[in-house]
Amino acid sequence: MDLFLTDKVIIITGASKGIGLATAKAFEAEGCKVVIFDVDRAGERQVNGNILFKYCDITNENDVKNAIDWVINTCGKIDVLVNNAAVFHFAPAETTTDEMLNAMLSVNIKSYFFMAKYALPHLKNATHPVIVNLSSGVAFQYQAGMAAYSTTKTAILGFTRSLAVDYAPWLRAVSVCPGATLTPSLQRDIDARSGAEKDKFVKATESISLLNRLGKSEEVADFITFIASPRAGFCTGHAFRIDGGVGIRIDGDK
Ligand SMILES: NC(=O)c1ccc[n+]([C@@H]2O[C@H](COP(=O)([O-])OP(=O)(O)OC[C@H]3O[C@@H](n4cnc5c(N)ncnc54)[C@H](O)[C@@H]3O)[C@@H](O)[C@H]2O)c1
Repeated sequence: MDLFLTDKVIIITGASKGIGLATAKAFEAEGCKVVIFDVDRAGERQVNGNILFKYCDITNENDVKNAIDWVINTCGKIDVLVNNAAVFHFAPAETTTDEMLNAMLSVNIKSYFFMAKYALPHLKNATHPVIVNLSSGVAFQYQAGMAAYSTTKTAILGFTRSLAVDYAPWLRAVSVCPGATLTPSLQRDIDARSGAEKDKFVKATESISLLNRLGKSEEVADFITFIASPRAGFCTGHAFRIDGGVGIRIDGDK
């Protein structure tokens, strides 16, 4: 199926690895030009004719403004913004430090605002402009020990709705909410455990999904390319869960 994305210019934050990188490759396969904004220079290794890398600390408003200007000077336009970057510090409220909280508020919320703020004037000139914001399954069901992280991911649902309403009808904005997906950050979380603890954690995480497995970055990436395409032209404002059916079963059923 042609997604009608050929020659579109896509910015993806935090695309040096994980879901962001898979999404960059998925858009590239659809004939797009993709610009990765990241502070991890590993993204430079992906650079080719169609994938570009711009070092940008998206928590710094001035950096964001300059990086967006750079995209306009280099690519001439912006069609789709994917706000994907996040940091993860897992703790309940009592042991969440000021440092952890600031990092998550800055990367997981503030950067989404900055990116939208400076991309919107250019998105206005696109034929099918879209902003995709990465939220999470924890915006719907709380997973123990994720107080600040789940707060930031829930906030993104509200931010997406604000974009969808304030800039309708010319802009579409959607939230994409993955469940546990095997990315470097989840792998790090798994590797932090040893022996039986590790197996227990993996099995418990897999069994949350009806499909009894972790998600793949490519599965989230394919959904993002579809939802950002004109093929999904009637979808806006809502949150879409890519999580193997988490939360639809009453405990003990089956
Ligand atoms: N992996 C999962 O299981 C999972 C589940 C639900 C939701 N999500 C969401 O999906 C998105 C991607 O997750 P992932 O697991 O692929 O993440 P990841 O940790 O693998 O990658 C995040 C990227 O963001 C970049 N980044 C962090 N701070 C930055 C900053 N200040 N400026 C620029 N770039 C910065 C990092 O360098 C990294 O490349 C996130 O929004 C996350 O909340 C992931």
